[in-house]
Amino acid sequence: MNGTISKIEALEILDSRGNPTIRVFVTLDNGVRTSASVPSGASTGENEAIELRDGDPKHYGGKGVLKAVSNVNKIIAPKLLGMDPSQQARIDRLMIELDGTPNKARLGANAILGVSMAVAKAAARDAGMTLYNYLGGVGATRLPVPMMNILNGGKHADNSVDFQEFMVMPVGAPSFSEALRYGAETFHVLKKLLAKKNYSTAVGDEGGFAPNLRSNDEACEVIVEAIKAAGFQPGRDIAIALDPAASSFFEKDSYQLTKSKSGSKNSAEMISLYQDWVKRFPIVSIEDGLAENDWKGFARMMQAMGDRTQIVGDDLFVTNTKFVARGIEEGSANSVLIKLNQIGTISETVDTIAMCRKAGWGYVISHRSGETEDTFMADFTVAMGGGQIKTGSACRSERIAKYNRLLEIEMELGGSAVFSSPFKATS
Ligand code: PGA
Ligand code: ZN
Repeated sequence: MNGTISKIEALEILDSRGNPTIRVFVTLDNGVRTSASVPSGASTGENEAIELRDGDPKHYGGKGVLKAVSNVNKIIAPKLLGMDPSQQARIDRLMIELDGTPNKARLGANAILGVSMAVAKAAARDAGMTLYNYLGGVGATRLPVPMMNILNGGKHADNSVDFQEFMVMPVGAPSFSEALRYGAETFHVLKKLLAKKNYSTAVGDEGGFAPNLRSNDEACEVIVEAIKAAGFQPGRDIAIALDPAASSFFEKDSYQLTKSKSGSKNSAEMISLYQDWVKRFPIVSIEDGLAENDWKGFARMMQAMGDRTQIVGDDLFVTNTKFVARGIEEGSANSVLIKLNQIGTISETVDTIAMCRKAGWGYVISHRSGETEDTFMADFTVAMGGGQIKTGSACRSERIAKYNRLLEIEMELGGSAVFSSPFKATS
């Protein structure tokens, strides 16, 4: 006999930045009990589903989530009691209808996603299955290549670097565990290199270093230096992925490179900069190279470099089929960054991924800059089989928790684990 949902309760907890977020507990009538915690972004896209915050200045400076907690306990829970947790699509749709707004503004995407994830975990546990098998079936055997954000700037760090994320991607590693080792070793060598150059080795929100470099270019230069010094070949063993998060420095019709004091650039000049960088550095992927409303720019960037470079839309698509459909129509990108809390349910996230697959696009499952110890996304990545995950640097436990979970999954899968780079190795 499958269990049915007998209790749902939410709790206000803290994320990795010390801001409130929501954890949801789901209990089944046969005693199965699971919980899931919701992450939170800083450089959010303007079309993301609404993260409900209380706005009470006396409670966590307005950032409390007690309303979302109450929405779970008082509005969502009574409707789901008695339901079979394996009816994920039905439960998600019921919550969407209960919310009744196009962007989950009434109940909060944080409230809804917490329930959506906890319900999936309960169903998996009840079925005696791992979460990745439950969500992805028996074919869920592909481990991802990690995009490891080892150098931070933009809104994630108080430094002189405009671009938010400089990531290493161990595309030439033979397995996930080796990829993680390649990335972690490079991270430690980078720390020594930065210290030798008298730069700070304090870390930003996602665990990457946040030095006051002389230019944005120097970020790529020092990463290439670290890859080599760690004994790897840039391009062949380890490539670079960027997330400039350009919406965060787009103001008054131009890209303001204020933090590095590099003046302003228009869309075409930004594309030229990336073309130049792709020639100089082993860059295989660029996410949000342009701002979320620069659809024309994205299409031009795709034409200019989409045949060789993964062009990922994050703020542009906000994990929403409505925007991904437009992107496919207009040729705006060739890959989508997938963040569960941008859209707010597992079912809708899976729909977005299905749309990517159909279009022959890539997809990268991603954390948020504000995270928790929840490892749902690691299982979700294996379940979806896209071969790429973005979940931070080689330090900070909320990031490492995801990597450690992937190591466990690799061990569980043993000989059936698949690891294949989505990119051809370059040298
Ligand atoms: P965020 O950053 O979680 O602060 O939005 C991550 C990203 O831009 O990819
Ligand atoms: Zn991004």
